[in-house]
Amino acid sequence: MVTMSIIKADTGGFIGHSAVHPEMLATAKDALEKAKTDLLIDGQVHWCGDDISLIITHEHGIEAEPIHRFAWDTFMATTNVAKALGMYAAGQDLLVDAFSGNLKGMGPGYAEMEIDERPSEPILCFLADKTEPGAWNYPMYRAFADPFNTAGLVIDPKMHAGFVFEVHDLFEERRALFECPGELYDLLLFIGSPSRFVIKRVFSKTLGVLAGVTSTQRLGLMAGRYVGKDDPVMMIRAQSGLPAVGEILEAFTLPHIVSGCMRGSHHAPFLPVAQDDAHPTRFDGQPRVVCLAFQLKDGHLNGPRDMFDDPSFDLARQRSNEMFDYLRRHGPFEPHRLPLDEMEYTTMPAVMEKFAERWEATSDEVPVLAS
Ligand code: F6R
Ligand code: MG
Ligand code: MG
Repeated sequence: MVTMSIIKADTGGFIGHSAVHPEMLATAKDALEKAKTDLLIDGQVHWCGDDISLIITHEHGIEAEPIHRFAWDTFMATTNVAKALGMYAAGQDLLVDAFSGNLKGMGPGYAEMEIDERPSEPILCFLADKTEPGAWNYPMYRAFADPFNTAGLVIDPKMHAGFVFEVHDLFEERRALFECPGELYDLLLFIGSPSRFVIKRVFSKTLGVLAGVTSTQRLGLMAGRYVGKDDPVMMIRAQSGLPAVGEILEAFTLPHIVSGCMRGSHHAPFLPVAQDDAHPTRFDGQPRVVCLAFQLKDGHLNGPRDMFDDPSFDLARQRSNEMFDYLRRHGPFEPHRLPLDEMEYTTMPAVMEKFAERWEATSDEVPVLAS
């Protein structure tokens, strides 16, 4: 068995919240190279916007203490570089002072899977910035449950039985499994509300294997206040009875609306980009996604290929830009700005508090103005 982990954190932004400074990446790379001598099989440092992702392979299983400690120490080191260089919001995602046990509840996000490596193991790693974990619901659904997206669901005998979805309720901290296609409508009832219900894992019914996993940490829920968006990651295995690489990527041709963007408080269309373009600019957006793909061999990462660096996605990008421009004109109005209940974990409650005393019972009498 081999474990593949993506562990990510925003430890400081290079010009606001738009990117990671090269010296921070170099520090993470140094730490990773050292860890390759004993702890890790292989690993690479990547980024999307202001988030650093450690994409690593090892034999310690998921949520393993030494692996999470290594990631924490690495993010502490990049935070120190960020502080020294005056980077913006240095150490943003490190919510606690000291590491204990594993990263759960500490701020960094992670998606991990322990698998029996197949003779050929294509794995797609998706990294996002300026959005939340529920952003994966729509493409996960399209890739693993929608026959209009994924031809294999209809014509591949190994996919025809469908997939099992593990859905987490982030508010109640509970989970449920849905077998599709049989329970497709039930699944949609929940995952159509991506701020609360998120797909954590997907399993193949025929092969009985784990096919994909997402990071489900929500920073605001952990911290009880706004500390930036969660900027999730996702890993999907492809081919041979799982969706083909092209079927998984097809799910990103509609720039679906996600929440995040400016101040974590807006709806905006997801923008699939090449890694060189993964630096949010306009209105701290658009929320964007990169796909770095690897062929795993004995735990070694052959790759990545930068999958959205392709003209096939030009139309999606064009649409995404047009939709964003249209939404932007709504300014502070919903549905561009998030609805009130989702604003609970932003800086807005502090402003609302100021007017708490101003409100009085509704009356038909004409109010008397203060003279
Ligand atoms: C979104 C994000 C940014 C900031 C915004 C304000 O996830 O991180 O949009 O919320 O730039 O940042 P502050 O309050 O730090 O000035
Ligand atoms: Mg940031
Ligand atoms: Mg970010």
